[in-house]
Amino acid sequence: MALREIRIQGDPVLNKVCRPVETLTPRLQELIDDMLDTMYEAQGVGLAAPQVGVLRRIVVIDVGEGPIVMINPEILETAGEQHGMEGCLSVPGKAAEVTRPNYVKAKALNENMEEFIIEGEELLARAICHELDHLDGHMYTEIAEGPLQDVEYDEEE
Ligand code: NI
Repeated sequence: MALREIRIQGDPVLNKVCRPVETLTPRLQELIDDMLDTMYEAQGVGLAAPQVGVLRRIVVIDVGEGPIVMINPEILETAGEQHGMEGCLSVPGKAAEVTRPNYVKAKALNENMEEFIIEGEELLARAICHELDHLDGHMYTEIAEGPLQDVEYDEEE
């Protein structure tokens, strides 16, 4: 387990389409562990593999209810709409208004390469949409409504 460097907007790796995972090798298992560590260290609610420079369809999410690992995720259904501020670890210190579905149903493989279905509302729905966009090379800044705003961080305790 180790921290990985988070790539910042402007790095071309963030605009590429990621390849599906066919076999979960020890190397990719280590990647997932590192992505979780890196996400928690950065106090993010999600991280996609391209954000640490790996073009594979893997995301990790934790909206405060425990870690979710999604391999080869696909959105199956969406419903409703939510409006709110969104940020990204690859765009540090910034946030902007983004409209997302309020409900998302998705499927993915877990760390044992078993398929599971996940349903999320509000922040979880937003996080799933945001992270899956990364796998196709898209950033929230492309769909932001209005300018990016500076975010104030709490001082470190
Ligand atoms: Ni992001």
